[in-house]
Amino acid sequence: MNLFDVYTLWDIEPVSAKGCKVWDKNGVEYLDLYGGHAVISIGHLHSHYIDKITKQIHNIGFYSNSVFNSLQTELADKLGGQSGYPDYSLFLCNSGAEANENALKLASFHTEKDKVLAFSGSFHGRTSGAVAVTNNPAIQSPFNAQHKVTFVPLNDIVAVENELKSGSYAAVIVEGIQGVAGIFEPESEFLKQLESLCKRYNAVLILDEIQSGYGRTGKFFAHQHADIRPDLITVAKGMGNGFPIGGVLISPAFEAKKGMLGTTFGGSHLACAAAIAVLDVMKAESLVENAAAVGGYLIDELSKINGIAEIRGRGLMIGVQLKPEQADLRNKLLFEEHIFTGGAKNNVMRLLPPLSISKTEATIFLQSLKKRINL
Ligand SMILES: Cc1ncc(COP(=O)(O)O)c(C=O)c1O
Repeated sequence: MNLFDVYTLWDIEPVSAKGCKVWDKNGVEYLDLYGGHAVISIGHLHSHYIDKITKQIHNIGFYSNSVFNSLQTELADKLGGQSGYPDYSLFLCNSGAEANENALKLASFHTEKDKVLAFSGSFHGRTSGAVAVTNNPAIQSPFNAQHKVTFVPLNDIVAVENELKSGSYAAVIVEGIQGVAGIFEPESEFLKQLESLCKRYNAVLILDEIQSGYGRTGKFFAHQHADIRPDLITVAKGMGNGFPIGGVLISPAFEAKKGMLGTTFGGSHLACAAAIAVLDVMKAESLVENAAAVGGYLIDELSKINGIAEIRGRGLMIGVQLKPEQADLRNKLLFEEHIFTGGAKNNVMRLLPPLSISKTEATIFLQSLKKRINL
């Protein structure tokens, strides 16, 4: 059997990793400024993470959501405390798309409405509702295109109100910082007004923090820079440091009914052990603060480099806007400097390193970038 050929692959096979480093099958060492697409939060193979998962697999790896699982309540307690949402409740699932799918469904149940407002450039995943609120017709099949979704430009509050005032929207979904689009931030004032318009017109505000959350921008959630409290917050990526897990943080205004949401694998013992280990390490090693400090250093230093068109983002979610003649820069960094970076449309290099990256590692990246940028 062949693999269904949907991914463009680099000709590199990582076989081991530690912290912010990855080694390929030929023993070549790489610096990881990509984190496997914003997934590696506490660093590869952290000893506490290995320990927690190993101990758990020796006890019980999985049962089902029809029995009590105290690891789920421990995870919810820790996540509520560390994120600043102790009064919210948690629904556990397996991926980012599934988290958004459940958030959209909850918003529709709650308001008994079916329309959703989303933004130009958005990416929310590839399942039915999630891809329908993603602003990319190329990845929508005719089946997905049946949902009632309207897109308006990000940061255009007048366009938002023109839609919401009809009163027919169940939800507005927005990324904490748009990632796939190339690192574009909703302005703080825009988010504040969005929050109040959602209240006024009875639409649920869903913050997709799948890429921008879990400490990446120097606060637990990117929207906390704007001091708002969304109704629903979706998380995945960094939550399990590579173990598949996602979740929806749900405001107390939502009432749970038996059977309204569900999943076979979501919140398994093993997934919870991984996610608890992530939160433990984030707290013990002050990784949110590290993301703010090393991210701030990277953004300052990148801004001083001649030849870069623009730097966008916050903390360790950084977009480096390159010029057309620099299109090959990421390949040069990967194959000649052995540094992984992420990409985005329109010549953007995305930096999404583990939150544990040190200033020394960030400096190695900056030196390599300076060396390669104008070659
Ligand atoms: C903002 C955002 N939402 C949702 C998703 C989908 O997550 P997953 O690939 O885990 O389904 C992604 C993945 O890149 C994302 O960046």
